[in-house]
Amino acid sequence: MNDILPDTSHIWRAVEDACVQVLLQRGYHQIRTPIVESTNLFARSIGADTDIVSKEMYTFEDRNGDSLTLRPEGTASCVRAGIEHGLFYNQQQRLFYIGPMFRHERPQKGRYRQFHQLGAECYGWPGADIEAEVIASNHAMFQYLGLRDTQLQINSLGDSQARAEYRRSLLSYLEGHVDALDEDSVRRMQSNPLRILDSKNAQVQQVLQNAPSILDFLSEDSAAHFQQLQGFLSDLDIEYTVNPRLVRGLDYYNDTVFEWVNADFGAQATVCAGGRYDGMVQQLGGTPTPCFGFAMGIERLVQILSEQEAAISQQSNQPDVFIISTDLESRSQALRLQRELCDSQNAQKRLEAEQGHAFSVQLFCGEGSLKNQFKRADKSGAKLAIVIGEQERLDNTATVKLLRGNFGEEQQRTIAQKDVLNVVTNLLESL
Ligand code: HAM
Repeated sequence: MNDILPDTSHIWRAVEDACVQVLLQRGYHQIRTPIVESTNLFARSIGADTDIVSKEMYTFEDRNGDSLTLRPEGTASCVRAGIEHGLFYNQQQRLFYIGPMFRHERPQKGRYRQFHQLGAECYGWPGADIEAEVIASNHAMFQYLGLRDTQLQINSLGDSQARAEYRRSLLSYLEGHVDALDEDSVRRMQSNPLRILDSKNAQVQQVLQNAPSILDFLSEDSAAHFQQLQGFLSDLDIEYTVNPRLVRGLDYYNDTVFEWVNADFGAQATVCAGGRYDGMVQQLGGTPTPCFGFAMGIERLVQILSEQEAAISQQSNQPDVFIISTDLESRSQALRLQRELCDSQNAQKRLEAEQGHAFSVQLFCGEGSLKNQFKRADKSGAKLAIVIGEQERLDNTATVKLLRGNFGEEQQRTIAQKDVLNVVTNLLESL
């Protein structure tokens, strides 16, 4: 579990804001659910045989003796909330969420015990159109963020009959190759054979080369649905690979599943993943409702963006302007100036244009000599200092001083306080 410190938290905010913006643009609404849920909810939806439920949940008894679990993902909570509040009753919903999730996994790069997901879930649409919309929204996020080299993989897991038939066929194939399987895969033959397709073991992958493909077991409807999705993606010019061995670590999926993978990120290469899970609402006590969604790992996203030196990850958390003032009365003028600059339309415009990097104005508070305050201003990384000393206070002026770069001849200028906003805006724009 990590602390996200001030030297990176601004990048998180910018990344989250950009992704949320893409969803808001497409008519998604935020849902905020509790971080703890009844343990049963996850066991019933994610599947008792999955790694998540069988060994990764943070589960505890509360004072009433009820078994609670820190949410390992957001999908089950959305469905629980939707049923509880009647959101699926004669309605369609496009929801999104953002927040911490908890899994007791072995920590490594890109895999943490508390991690953060931004996800969206759509309820009430059975077709491939909503799937294309969701996948296109991921694509838009990556473009907006400047994320490179992320490949889309898609697969269809069909309906339960197709999966049962495929399971039998896969098992009978694997039984002929048991000697070449690792211990984990042999164990999975009993509990969850499809997950063997996901094995990282090279020898197991070798065996799987000639294994039957789930795509040969799809019903006509499922096959047509999957074709339709591919048609939409092609029309949108979104490149994809059909990976018949793509299965997911959660048991609730049917038909379409997908992952966005950044191959050079190592073992934990999946930044974003999701699929269709039409059975869950009924499974949890609601009326049958088609569902489709995704979740994105924010840690992975931020790390890859930093490794790729994407512009959004290179943003600074430094103020634009640092205000220096020498005594109590000039401090009062400094406070007014800070408010004026921060509230100005120019500041707001910059905020919108630079994805969260606002026109920012830091005020020196506390006691300090002029020299001491200038040192702080320098250290803050600000581009400009505004100084209100005794003379400035008496004249209602301020001295604007350039701290970074070369602005031609002039290094500082004393101007009327009412002109500060204009002068500062022009100077910052010319940098
Ligand atoms: P998931 O594949 O378990 O799916 O997680 C989605 C994403 O969360 C992963 O691709 C990864 O980026 C990130 N993630 C998962 N575990 C960790 C971890 N331990 N540390 C860091 N990042 C992690 C789900 O959670 C489904 N609820 C997705 C979904 C939504 N399906 C339908 N709707």
